[in-house]
Amino acid sequence: MKTILIKDILVSNPDGHTVEIHGWVRTKRDSKNLVFLQINDGSCFASIQATYDRDLDNPNKNDIENQLKRITTGASVKATGKLIPSPASGQAVEVQLEKIEVFGEAPADSYPLQKKGHSVEFLREIAHLRPRTNMIGAAARMRSQMAFAIHSFFNEHGFQYFNAPLITASDCEGAGEMFQVTTLDLDKIAELGIKAGAKGMDPAKAANLVDYSKDFFGKKASLTVSGQLEAETYATALSRVYTFGPTFRAENSNTPRHLAEFWMIEPEMAFYELDDNMDLAEEFVKYLLNWALTNCREDLNFFEQRVQKGLIETLTHVANSDFARVPYTEAVKQLEENNDKFEFKAYWGCDLQTEHERYLTEVLYKRPVMVYDYPKEIKAFYMKENPDGKTVRAVDVLVPGIGELIGGSEREADYDKLMNRITELGMDPKDYWWYLELRKFGTVPHSGFGMGFERLLRYVTGIENIRDVIPYPRAPKQCEF
Ligand code: 4AD
Ligand code: MG
Repeated sequence: MKTILIKDILVSNPDGHTVEIHGWVRTKRDSKNLVFLQINDGSCFASIQATYDRDLDNPNKNDIENQLKRITTGASVKATGKLIPSPASGQAVEVQLEKIEVFGEAPADSYPLQKKGHSVEFLREIAHLRPRTNMIGAAARMRSQMAFAIHSFFNEHGFQYFNAPLITASDCEGAGEMFQVTTLDLDKIAELGIKAGAKGMDPAKAANLVDYSKDFFGKKASLTVSGQLEAETYATALSRVYTFGPTFRAENSNTPRHLAEFWMIEPEMAFYELDDNMDLAEEFVKYLLNWALTNCREDLNFFEQRVQKGLIETLTHVANSDFARVPYTEAVKQLEENNDKFEFKAYWGCDLQTEHERYLTEVLYKRPVMVYDYPKEIKAFYMKENPDGKTVRAVDVLVPGIGELIGGSEREADYDKLMNRITELGMDPKDYWWYLELRKFGTVPHSGFGMGFERLLRYVTGIENIRDVIPYPRAPKQCEF
């Protein structure tokens, strides 16, 4: 079956040539002599109208009437007819229906999307059908476009696409928020534990019943929280690489900003210091916003009208503004002056809360802010220490409406310093031997950052909850599909 997409038919010449439309009926309106069908195939936001005029001669009349009876919202059809200029406003062309075939009905009494205006919460419960709605369809196209833009940006900047492993034995962020991957039989181990307990065995010994040497990988393994450590190994060979893939975090955060499975983009660059890193992050964000404004206009117009008023103006403004760059110490001073406005009071050494981040970017600077040089205690082990001994060369990019969009740093390139930090934090250097060797053999200054793909999508669509910009959200107690 060779099909032409509705997005292409909508821009072809309405000179009366015959077209075949394949798609799902969004609405059917039947007035005396005229039947109007809005048909959508998801290739673009707009539907195409097929009009059946009962007054026109048509040898298929009976057949058409029979098929039309079967059609309700959600039915899948093939509609054939002449493409003509549309007399109706808001659409350039329409199809004068001559023949229609129903592939599958969508019974009105059971099809969940029969009526419009469902809540986003309800739509999450029917995640397998929600891409047929305006909002989730538009979000899915934006997601695809943004992925393409990301590859395009890095390709234009001399980066190689690098695929980090998803199963790993090291905890990149050191936050202990990893999902364990195991083939050990947990039920059996629990049973053995109970038996051991019953025999009066001490709990420490019982804990040793879990013998990881017998596990699939012969050691404890987990799903990765970040591809950064592995990306560094390729950046110190290919100069510029980026990852773009799923990452997993078992943090128990039930918020509109967090997912247990999210996609991350992580560029890693040899011979880049923190300033170069910040330049790249700023250029990257602006490139993506410009891409959305140029290539996703129809979907953006929908988000502007139905999801977030002012979205297009905000994105245009940010794409054209210089991001502020503020050291953490200065940012905290400014926040402290406004502590009466916060639930969590800011102080030097605190991890910035979303309310602080948003205050900085929305109220104080009114544009994206890059906060850098954070206290080392609140950042990961791999970040390069500043000469003050207290802060590290970290940067977070904060954007209005979202808070943290990007987190990154210059990496510690000195073997001894990195080793000290690893041991200081009680981590086992043996687990990081290969990472440490990068500092032993041909070490270079290098930097990188990570952008949460779904955070970006929340930003460019205005969609409030992160669970609505990924097809099948994974969050605490949510794994239905
Ligand atoms: O700040 P994070 O934890 O940084 C890293 O993982 C570094 N290894 C990145 C690097 O330097 N290569 O995470 C990076 C970004 C955050 O800024 C945020 O946008 C997103 O990942 N992120 C999440 N997105 C959705 N759900 C979660 N649970 C997220 N955790 C982080
Ligand atoms: Mg972070």
